Amino acid sequence: MTQVVVFGNEKGGASKTTSAWHFAIACCYRGLRVATIDLDYRQRSFSRWHENRTKWCQSKGVFRPMPGLRNWDGSDATNIHLREMRDIGGLTQGIEELAAGYDLIIIDCPGADTQGAQFAHATADLLVTAMAPSMMESDLLAKFDQDTRSYSGPSVYAMRVQTARRTQKECDIAIMRWLVMLNRYHPSADPEKLDAVAHLDVLGKRLSFTRVTGIAERTIYRDLFSTGRTALDIEAKTDSAKGQTIARSRAEINRMVDALLANLKQLETAP
Ligand SMILES: Nc1ncnc2c1ncn2[C@@H]1O[C@H](COP(=O)(O)OP(=O)(O)O)[C@@H](O)[C@H]1O
Ligand SMILES: [Mg+2]
Repeated sequence: MTQVVVFGNEKGGASKTTSAWHFAIACCYRGLRVATIDLDYRQRSFSRWHENRTKWCQSKGVFRPMPGLRNWDGSDATNIHLREMRDIGGLTQGIEELAAGYDLIIIDCPGADTQGAQFAHATADLLVTAMAPSMMESDLLAKFDQDTRSYSGPSVYAMRVQTARRTQKECDIAIMRWLVMLNRYHPSADPEKLDAVAHLDVLGKRLSFTRVTGIAERTIYRDLFSTGRTALDIEAKTDSAKGQTIARSRAEINRMVDALLANLKQLETAP
């Protein structure tokens, strides 16, 4: 059965697109049939990763696994209501058509609270919210009071997820699983020992999400954008500093993918 994985968060720059791209490529390497949808029509960064990879493969005359990318026209309408209606129409049709030929549909959402993003959240089997270890980012889930050391909430983004889950319940479809993925921690830090982890573990119980570890802050995650590659595309020669960075990045990506796929139990991945 096709599974929908949505990368969403209301914060821009939270590494949604970077995580979604690395997850998509890693799943292709694992033999899954992967389709992707770029819902950030304004920035189109996910589509640019795709375009850059296609061009790089063509110019080098090499093959690298590639997810399908579904886009549709009409999103440039100047009337915002018309644009949002077209987006929902495109998304509904896109998911329906893709479901026939793919194991996974990965949707990269914009940081803004658009109708399209709301709709995408309500279609998710798995929602992945990437964030840095920062109280300012977890503030979008629930507010922390330093004096009483307690939380009030939920905050805006957690409310959006609750609304999406309510919609799923009302429509009698399976309720999504929600993972909050800690990214962009210092590469030399033990991510399990960060203060942010303790906060997220408390919040996870209240808001029904599971905290997982994602990718560290490394230049490799942005430097490979112009060729659309990931560390998985590059052989790691561990006798050089560069090779060691590639190897560490590969390990982080694989750990992230294992954590996400473990929440999509129906999928059988190639060994
Ligand atoms: N793990 C990371 N290490 C280093 N830079 C990162 C990492 N994740 C994202 N970035 C960079 O941070 C910026 C925002 O990331 P992006 O994935 O576009 O976030 P979002 O989609 O949430 O807006 C981009 O410049 C991207 O290259
Ligand atoms: Mg983005």
